[in-house]
Amino acid sequence: MRTHKIAAIGGDGIGPEVIEAGLEVLDALVTQDGGFRLEVERFPWGSGFYRQTGRMMPEDGLDTLKRFDAIYFGAVGAQDVPDHVTLWGLRLAICQGFDQYANVRPTRILPGVSAPLKLHSDADIDWVIIRENSEGEYSGQGRRSHRGLPEEVATEVSIFTRAGVSRIMRFAFELARGRPRRLLTLITKSNAQRHGMVLWDEIFEEVARDYPDVGTDRMLVDAATTRMVLKPQSLDVMVATNLHADILSDLAAALSGSLGIAPTANLNPARRFPSMFEPIHGSAFDIVGKGIANPIGTFWSAAMMLDHLGERAAASRLMAAIEAVTRARVFTPDLGGKATTREVTQAVCAALAHR
Ligand code: IPM
Ligand code: MG
Repeated sequence: MRTHKIAAIGGDGIGPEVIEAGLEVLDALVTQDGGFRLEVERFPWGSGFYRQTGRMMPEDGLDTLKRFDAIYFGAVGAQDVPDHVTLWGLRLAICQGFDQYANVRPTRILPGVSAPLKLHSDADIDWVIIRENSEGEYSGQGRRSHRGLPEEVATEVSIFTRAGVSRIMRFAFELARGRPRRLLTLITKSNAQRHGMVLWDEIFEEVARDYPDVGTDRMLVDAATTRMVLKPQSLDVMVATNLHADILSDLAAALSGSLGIAPTANLNPARRFPSMFEPIHGSAFDIVGKGIANPIGTFWSAAMMLDHLGERAAASRLMAAIEAVTRARVFTPDLGGKATTREVTQAVCAALAHR
């Protein structure tokens, strides 16, 4: 039987709650499917681990993870550990160490969800944001000097390489080609950022020549936010830098009804290393331990993971079960409901049993 090895890292905040919910749903799916197995190992890494050991994960953490086919990740970030420590010690260490350069963030208004945009337009949202995930503003290059003096200086250097930009463009064109509308929008800020962003523009034009069947257009990132709100139906796939896409994807998630729904795949498309799948919401300290975290973003991320592992039929069944549950409005408070994480999880397991 096909076996996929999954490393589960709940991490911080509500991360462990939603990952346990996700594993339960995956278990129900696999039991009914019978065509494949998931071999899951849990890793207690994150801020708790940091308080005990001084590290977010063991020194050989990446070597351990390398043996897995995929990583199922909750969230990272704690109130008593600086964000840059938690982030660079675990999540970015995995993304960069495993060259997960393509971050894929689909946005749809799931059935039953009342999203803010519906107030203004009856048009639906069906987008995929492709975020460059290995360089740009998150390259970690920079320094601080003259600390504490009035002359203190800090640099935060964005790195854009021809290799890095070309590969994310190719990835975005390939993905756009596989969708019905075949439209790719390049989002930059090449009026103000005249070096790196102009390189993005040029490489986009070059790569576009290899994809004559994909329609293209371009937006500056500020104008893109307006278009997302006022003309959502005019967008399909968007490609943007690490930071721009980070911001746009939170906007996209809010427009689709809740940050609690939105999934992410951090892909190493060459499959040299495992890819990582996670909800985009983060730790959400305000609701930790209350049992009301929305697990839908984590379930949808599991569907993306199954798809990446080649289990397309199982991925579609899971998506259909998620949509059956949202259609029935079994919602946690972030979506205006009263259901608990547990109840949404059980509802999805029950919906799986019926298909
Ligand atoms: C995301 C998150 C992270 C990011 C945070 C937790 C650093 O906002 O995945 O969008 O900015 O990459
Ligand atoms: Mg973000």
